[in-house]
Amino acid sequence: MSDYERRAEGVARILIGDGEIRSRICEMAKELDAAYAGDVPLLVGVLNGAITFMTDLMRAMTIPLEVDFMAVSSYGAATQSSGVVRILKDLNEDIEGRRVVVVEDIVDSGLTLQYLLDVLQRRNPLDVRVVALLKKEKTDAVEVQVDQVGFTIPDEFVIGYGLDYAGKYRNLPYVAVLDPRMYSGE
Ligand code: PRP
Repeated sequence: MSDYERRAEGVARILIGDGEIRSRICEMAKELDAAYAGDVPLLVGVLNGAITFMTDLMRAMTIPLEVDFMAVSSYGAATQSSGVVRILKDLNEDIEGRRVVVVEDIVDSGLTLQYLLDVLQRRNPLDVRVVALLKKEKTDAVEVQVDQVGFTIPDEFVIGYGLDYAGKYRNLPYVAVLDPRMYSGE
């Protein structure tokens, strides 16, 4: 079995290929370069899911920037958002007066982001922009600020490019739909 096949076990179908992700990220990086020209934004990556997006996005940007990370958890090993958000790791930086760019891998119910923005706004940043690689198309999501979206995707469980199922699949270079048999016990 090839390495590709081994990694692809559990993948129902590839939704967004790595080339498509790369070119969209270049566009997003250019927009950020223009929006923050002359400033030094603080990119805040939301661990763990945003690691891949964060590292590709920051390398595609050409302006000076700084990075920091927050770790929150809302899902555990389940495939549906519980709405319960825990801060597992807070920022190292003081963001008062800073221009903050929140970098998220996916906005699903919007609950994680809603909570996170509330926490960040209370620390008096100069402004906050939200950049998400993926946003699910769903009617019951909360209204939450998202300024830049890479791809709008159907409401299915997705893995890869940083996104996990029960901790696995984050290293897939593409975004894929998880085979439902992986969590239905078949
Ligand atoms: C995922 C993702 C977002 C959040 C989105 O994180 O990275 O932070 O869920 O879901 P929501 O819009 O329904 O709140 P998760 O808690 O799975 O942790 P992880 O990033 O470590 O995978």
